[in-house]
Amino acid sequence: MTEVVESAQNPVILRASKRSIQSVNREWWRTAVIYQVYPRSFADGDGDGVGDLPGIASRLDALQELGIDAIWLSPFYTSPQRDGGYDVADYCDVDPLFGTLADFDALLHESHARGMRVIADIVPNHSSDRHPWFEAALASPPGSAERARYLFREGLGIDGELPPNNWPSHFGGPAWTRIVEADGTPGQWYLHLFDSSQPDFDWTNAEVREEFRSILRFWLDRGVDGFRVDVASSLVKAEGLPDRDYTLHEDLAPCTGQPGVHEIYRDWRALLDEYPGDRVLVAESWIKPLTRRAEWVRPDEMHQAFNDLFDDWDAPKLRGIIDDTISAFSAVGAPSTWVASNHDTVRQATRLSLPRSVRPNGLGPDSTGIPAYDETLPRARALALLTLSLPGAAYVYQGEELGLPEVADIPDEARQDPTFLRTEGEQYGRDGCRVPLPWVADAPSYGFGPTDASWLPQPAIWARLARDRQQNVADSTLTLYQDAIALRRSRTLGAGTLEWLPAHPSHVLAFRNGTTTVLINMGGEAVRLPAGEVLLASSPTQADTLEPDTAVWMHA
Ligand code: NOJ
Repeated sequence: MTEVVESAQNPVILRASKRSIQSVNREWWRTAVIYQVYPRSFADGDGDGVGDLPGIASRLDALQELGIDAIWLSPFYTSPQRDGGYDVADYCDVDPLFGTLADFDALLHESHARGMRVIADIVPNHSSDRHPWFEAALASPPGSAERARYLFREGLGIDGELPPNNWPSHFGGPAWTRIVEADGTPGQWYLHLFDSSQPDFDWTNAEVREEFRSILRFWLDRGVDGFRVDVASSLVKAEGLPDRDYTLHEDLAPCTGQPGVHEIYRDWRALLDEYPGDRVLVAESWIKPLTRRAEWVRPDEMHQAFNDLFDDWDAPKLRGIIDDTISAFSAVGAPSTWVASNHDTVRQATRLSLPRSVRPNGLGPDSTGIPAYDETLPRARALALLTLSLPGAAYVYQGEELGLPEVADIPDEARQDPTFLRTEGEQYGRDGCRVPLPWVADAPSYGFGPTDASWLPQPAIWARLARDRQQNVADSTLTLYQDAIALRRSRTLGAGTLEWLPAHPSHVLAFRNGTTTVLINMGGEAVRLPAGEVLLASSPTQADTLEPDTAVWMHA
């Protein structure tokens, strides 16, 4: 069994070769801080208003200063961008919007040279409808080998005018679209659990399995350190594609969590294990209960699966999620993997103060009463001190370290999320957490790129929150993240264990992780702090008082 160690004591050793990261820190992923880059919105190198790989490469110093261990890159592959790149037309190339393969190699090299690993995002449940395989399927007759790579079925009803089953698309409307056959007649239907531009593969087809093996190899050979696996629970569907029983929970739907899916990841794990350097598979799986999700991270499958995001500002609920996660994952020998925000959720600087849960499809026209930013930020900062203090790995979504809020007032004509289009504006979708980042307050596009172009409009508050306004400023959110990540490393919190502390009111989360005590006040009343040295506080604290919506780390 490999020893679990924290990276501070076992620093990365750099070698000169292309795949230079060789670490004595085995199983680095158990304790790592991983930063999610959403390439469209991180940094724009060429000024066209869309972020790109050279843009990311130009900002690596900022990530290194933040102190992260790895970058997870959301998709940058060839894509018509109907779902922000989660609609892939060529899995082995870079979309010209984002650059070239040479740009990717340079980014990987530069990241490794700074001691940061790079995790790519693989999208195996579906391709784009512009993928050559889907185009060939449309051009081929029913029953052909080309159609068999996807899930084409005859419709129900007298003329096949009804979809083959009652499954809904995650983005609204039915999960089936009917095609027009080559002779102009209405034809078969194809399955798409997401947008109609994202047809689902048929994973019972050996050709699909082989194709993905070679896609994984393509990127592993280039040197990526692993993959975040999109929609990891849904690749395998129940045989016969039966109707969904709506009296049962979504987690029991015939397109989720089918046992056969695990065989795929065991195969992938064996493939990754052929490569040197401790490469990882990360499951995007929201399946419940957590004991079931832990099946994805058994020793011969993936390395990490995301926890349940923290939606509610409610101490007993959060404690329940933390306990359930640690107990389910440690039962199979896997680390917990803490994520507070990502590119699909309302940003935590807004979400935690909303009266109701709005995950995952964003705010909508009915989301009224969003409190003012200065009232909502303290909870986001306190949550950061929670996720970064828990044992296991932690993810940071770009812009979280700047305390960015959700942008709620994007004009309808600028919105791009397919959720907005498929629900006819009933749900805004996820554009509000994807607005291009502010780097420099007094620059065009707030320093996102060299021009004032930005694929989503940036709000005026970006001037105040731009990175240059926060850098080296004692009480800024950026400084809080930097300090927290550094302390987390020096105090080996990622490799620690959690012990709840008794005798605190129920609205206070209080635990010890090694020599660090963590207290978070989620109630409306201040509480007394125990005696001791405060190492870090999410908001200004009085000598012995923990204010509402505040977290502290203390020397235990
Ligand atoms: C999950 C991704 O995080 C999300 O952005 C995407 O829309 C869906 N999977 C479909 O690929």
